[in-house]
Amino acid sequence: MVKHELECFLYQSKFAPGADATCVAQIVKTARAFNEKAQITGILVFDGEFFCQYIEGPSYQVQNLVTLLTRDPRHVNFTPLLHLRREPYRRFSKWTMAYHLVDDAEVLEGIGTRSGEFALKKLQDLIPQLDAD
Ligand SMILES: Cc1cc2nc3c(=O)[nH]c(=O)nc-3n(C[C@H](O)[C@H](O)[C@H](O)COP(=O)(O)O)c2cc1C
Repeated sequence: MVKHELECFLYQSKFAPGADATCVAQIVKTARAFNEKAQITGILVFDGEFFCQYIEGPSYQVQNLVTLLTRDPRHVNFTPLLHLRREPYRRFSKWTMAYHLVDDAEVLEGIGTRSGEFALKKLQDLIPQLDAD
């Protein structure tokens, strides 16, 4: 039997200028349906201007999703921050795609200029709040 490595990918992007803010709800809805089938889990954080998303799952599924994400016109400035190819466990195993809206820029501020590990730590710090979302 083929054993698929657990791959993780973290990026930041900017909501496309002129995109309709209501499309974020649509993104999350389709993401959850697709991710469930693809065995992808993770988190999407949005502050009204920037996205930061972490996805984890079987390598080929993660790579396929990253390709789709890079082509999605609803966001721009796609900036990979961390790519881990053989992780021993999932960090967001409970969520097909947790969604967290932050109302101040502080959470995502500077995330793209720091290390990927720093960004991942910031997202993991949100875990206690996610069940309340
Ligand atoms: C910020 C952002 C996050 C997204 N997250 C996911 C996701 O987790 N899973 C997913 O299937 N699609 C996600 N999408 C949508 C994909 O880019 C893509 O539209 C979707 O996979 C459907 O692809 P298709 O239109 O080629 O069928 C996201 C899009 C954006 C802009």
